[in-house]
Amino acid sequence: MIDPNLGSVVASPTPAGVGSNEVDGAGRPLVEVDRLKVYFPITEGLVFERHIGDVQAVDGVTFSLRRGETLGLVGESGCGKSTTGRAIIRLYKPTEGSISFDGVDLTTLSGDQLRRMRRRMQMIFQDPYASLNPRMTAGGIIGEPLEIHGIGSGGERRERVRELLATVGLNPDFGERYPHEFSGGQRQRIGVARALALNPDLIVADEPISALDVSIQAQIINLLERLQGQFDLTYLFIAHDLSVVRHISDRIAVMYLGRIVELAPSRDLNTRPLHPYTVALLSAIPIPDPAIESRRRRIILKGDVPSPAAPPEGCRFHTRCWLREKLGNPERCVTEDPALRLIETGHEAACHFAEDVAGSVEQQQVVGRPASRPRSSTPVASPGDGAAAGDPAAVQQIPTA
Ligand SMILES: Nc1ncnc2c1ncn2[C@@H]1O[C@H](COP(=O)(O)OP(=O)(O)O)[C@@H](O)[C@H]1O
Ligand code: SF4
Ligand SMILES: [Mg+2]
Repeated sequence: MIDPNLGSVVASPTPAGVGSNEVDGAGRPLVEVDRLKVYFPITEGLVFERHIGDVQAVDGVTFSLRRGETLGLVGESGCGKSTTGRAIIRLYKPTEGSISFDGVDLTTLSGDQLRRMRRRMQMIFQDPYASLNPRMTAGGIIGEPLEIHGIGSGGERRERVRELLATVGLNPDFGERYPHEFSGGQRQRIGVARALALNPDLIVADEPISALDVSIQAQIINLLERLQGQFDLTYLFIAHDLSVVRHISDRIAVMYLGRIVELAPSRDLNTRPLHPYTVALLSAIPIPDPAIESRRRRIILKGDVPSPAAPPEGCRFHTRCWLREKLGNPERCVTEDPALRLIETGHEAACHFAEDVAGSVEQQQVVGRPASRPRSSTPVASPGDGAAAGDPAAVQQIPTA
């Protein structure tokens, strides 16, 4: 189904990334990711391949997944979410760093040991059309993991498939049908049933609803939530849209160019975002109150995401950061890479000036609250509409309500 591509990653001498693995009172997390890097080599030449650089898809991320929680992983396309998810379940070999699962360092495992561990972690893919083999029946697809791992007799596997179909809300008799006979939502249910077949502890759901009709998305979210309670599952829920993950996640990690820039309980991230990038992402989500919405102004980020093959020096976000501009373009943003650091209880952000986001007009405005204690009423450049930074025509006062 997917190419593990294990041979295409190379070790990198770059210093380790930053962050902290916070363990709560509930004991050891199920998954601990420590300074994970996944680089894809860029080569040149047909006969004599020369290594000329790396796509730094994931560049030093540290986080943990507590048992039974849903951690949302969000960020723009290409920021390294899927690569992180795939490295966790060892579809990609890390370039550097470690991933431990239930206390066992996965990066040291191979062969049978790794295969046994892999049974406990499964993936749900974005596209229910592309991820299901069109030549296999639904029952064949769902039962395949049991077959691969040699679990049960033929009859037992057939019975398990019927049970799984029912668990995900499909008719148990549908096992003989082919993927094209199902709707998009039903296909995704087949993907979920397959992921459940081996009774995993962890499910990496990589944009599981992005390809579905809006009307179906809530059904799949509800299904995943129900299954989590029923089977005590831990989820890494990947999405490019913060509005998708914020209601179902216990905590959210925001990624930008291969790094985690903010990590916090979902509620805190949504009500007190502390990284300028998260503030911009939240500003794009409408608030369903016309009075509040009319006072909000979207923070449109300048330009495109830089290439992960040549990320900017210092803070990777500095080429697009509205806060840096507001603060008069401090040199530190260009020269010093900000570490992911604890700013409030359980709330980490990677910005030298995160304290300036707390209580700012922009923070208050995007979350839909009137700014009661604005630290600054400096006009903020709204860098959209192709206007150059600093262009007086592009400067708009954000209403303070
Ligand atoms: N197998 C691969 N080979 C080379 N580059 C890759 C590969 N997979 C992903 N990338 C690159 O790594 C970066 C991160 O990709 P990905 O993890 O898929 O991002 P996301 O899931 O956030 O959209 C992108 O620049 C992407 O082009
Ligand atoms: S460190 Fe500077 S450029 Fe980076 S997010 Fe903070 S203010 Fe913006
Ligand atoms: Mg992806």
